[in-house]
Amino acid sequence: MSIGFLGVGTISAAVIRAMSQRGGPAEELLLSPRSEHLSTALAAEFPHCRRLGSNQEVVDEADIVVLAMRPQQLDQALEGLRFRDSQVIASFVAGTPPSQMATLVAPAHRVAQLIPLPAIEVNRGPLLICPAIPEVERAFAGLGDVICWDDETRIRVFSCASAYMSTYYEMQNRIIDWMAARGVEREVAARYILSELEGLAAVGKATPVERLGDLPDEHQTRGGLNERVRRTLSEQGWFEDLTAALDDTYDNAVLRRTGE
Ligand SMILES: NC(=O)c1ccc[n+]([C@@H]2O[C@H](COP(=O)([O-])OP(=O)(O)OC[C@H]3O[C@@H](n4cnc5c(N)ncnc54)[C@H](OP(=O)(O)O)[C@@H]3O)[C@@H](O)[C@H]2O)c1
Repeated sequence: MSIGFLGVGTISAAVIRAMSQRGGPAEELLLSPRSEHLSTALAAEFPHCRRLGSNQEVVDEADIVVLAMRPQQLDQALEGLRFRDSQVIASFVAGTPPSQMATLVAPAHRVAQLIPLPAIEVNRGPLLICPAIPEVERAFAGLGDVICWDDETRIRVFSCASAYMSTYYEMQNRIIDWMAARGVEREVAARYILSELEGLAAVGKATPVERLGDLPDEHQTRGGLNERVRRTLSEQGWFEDLTAALDDTYDNAVLRRTGE
């Protein structure tokens, strides 16, 4: 199988590195020529990667075409490209659901939208595939946790739900900063907090879904430190603010702008 990437930017590079480092048979990865420095470097680093001369050459040679340009670059990138009926399209582009994308890549008609997150580079984190297409599932197998979902009207829910990444790191760093300000060497504070967060995520993942609601209470002692922090934040409306921020993003964020 050959997988062609139209757009070799941040997220494609992460996916290409992850695909190149997983075990099993290596697919041929075909790279479009833009982002010259990065696409040339990836082709030089991985023997099964080839940088081609044009977008059309990538489309002509690929069984699966990955669309990985920014939403506002999509129309220009697709202009004049000729796809094949038999081709499968895996789109990373936010804001254009598969049914709408199918009209832009006709006669290709098997289109999935994917949401890869940056942690894919270290083979972790979720990778949404909507709808499930067996060739796409096979092509992306082993890159974090593949989650298939068939209702494209809910893709926006997934996109908005994962939009807390920068908030998460801000929170992580604030706690490290707080420890450092209280006299703990920053390197030690970072190791301590990063290990704690990794442990919490591991416990969360190992807990059955129906028991997830118990975890907050299970991680605090009556009258203890955890209870105090959680109660203070609850009283300040911290958790409601988080839900409100997700609501606001879901209701108002524009994921696709044309003509910019
Ligand atoms: N970054 C993330 O965490 C993430 C996560 C999920 C989904 N996504 C989605 O993935 C897509 C790419 O995001 P990104 O962060 O990787 O963006 P990026 O780093 O800006 O990469 C965009 C790539 O598209 C190329 N490009 C632009 N116009 C093109 C054209 N006409 N033909 C071929 N290639 C073209 C750019 O080349 P030049 O550098 O030469 O302009 C660049 O290589 C976006 O739609 C985004 O919504 C990103």
